[in-house]
Amino acid sequence: MNVLVTGGAGYVGSAVAERLLELGHTVVIYDSLVTGHRDAVPVGATFVEADLIDGLRLLDTFTRSHVDAVMHMAATALVGESVQNPAKYYRANVVGGLALLDVMREAGTRLIVFSSTAAVYGERERQPIEESDPTRPTNPYGETKLAFEKALGWYERAYGIRHVCLRYFNAAGATKQCGERHQLETHLIPLVLQAAAGKRDGVTILGTDYPTRDGTCIRDYVHVADLADAHALALDALAAGRPSATYNLGCGGTGYSVAEVIEVARQVTNRPIPARIGVARPGDPAVLVASSDLVSRELGWHPKRQDLDDIIGSAWRWMERRQELF
Ligand code: UFG
Repeated sequence: MNVLVTGGAGYVGSAVAERLLELGHTVVIYDSLVTGHRDAVPVGATFVEADLIDGLRLLDTFTRSHVDAVMHMAATALVGESVQNPAKYYRANVVGGLALLDVMREAGTRLIVFSSTAAVYGERERQPIEESDPTRPTNPYGETKLAFEKALGWYERAYGIRHVCLRYFNAAGATKQCGERHQLETHLIPLVLQAAAGKRDGVTILGTDYPTRDGTCIRDYVHVADLADAHALALDALAAGRPSATYNLGCGGTGYSVAEVIEVARQVTNRPIPARIGVARPGDPAVLVASSDLVSRELGWHPKRQDLDDIIGSAWRWMERRQELF
């Protein structure tokens, strides 16, 4: 199929594009490079540098490339920043997303896989979280992703655009080519590994008073290559005429606390990682752990790289290979 990947120069987007190319799809990456990296675009993909709100450019891309389906990953995606600057999040994630849907309607493209997030759930007492659990985001990032999910429901009814929403828990790890790096790094695992590599003087644990086993936040880390597999399965399901759906993507179990992540990283890298205690970050839920039973049953997705050692190990090896980037 001809697949347009918005945000395909970003961390998850480039891994998804890499997987689609391996599977023989034709890939066009549409990315503004505001947070993405030109060198993350996989070999074999066509690249268009533009913003989603540039409707003419977007329509032109759809027309030229005969786009059959969209993987929509372009977004602003930092929980803390979204609390400080919600306008940026509504503009990118809601206005940008609706602009994309307008062009899809005009171009006659009727299939979309959307990168959603565990942040749509907010604080949930019951863990692991199921897709049918209430969605009450605690930050504008989750709120704007949920708003777009809801728009997709209405756009399906009115315009026949079928969708799969994939609610990622915490994407982590690296493939051979694609790894995690942000100009402004705020994610735990890259920060911890940069500290291990001596590029930072340590890492700050953001809050130790959460109602968890050791007082630090618990997350469900899922390998980016497993996320990429899920996108390919979702695309196949839509192409086969399956109905729209929303799925969690996580490894489940009991998740890992911030303190546990740091300890595993010390063992994997065999380096000291100094950790200091800081204040909690506004908008951070205490625990986010997925039940991925639904996607296992319906799409046959099973994460293959569940071990945190393996996940962190792959990220560490990628950082060592791509030292020039850090
Ligand atoms: N953390 C620290 N110190 C840091 C950075 C993070 O203690 O320097 C903690 C955070 O407080 C959080 C955990 O580590 O408890 C993970 O933080 P990340 O910033 O790595 O990831 P988030 O859980 O905030 O968010 C990520 C993605 C979102 C997604 C969410 C879903 O960035 O897009 O996972 O769980 F929605």
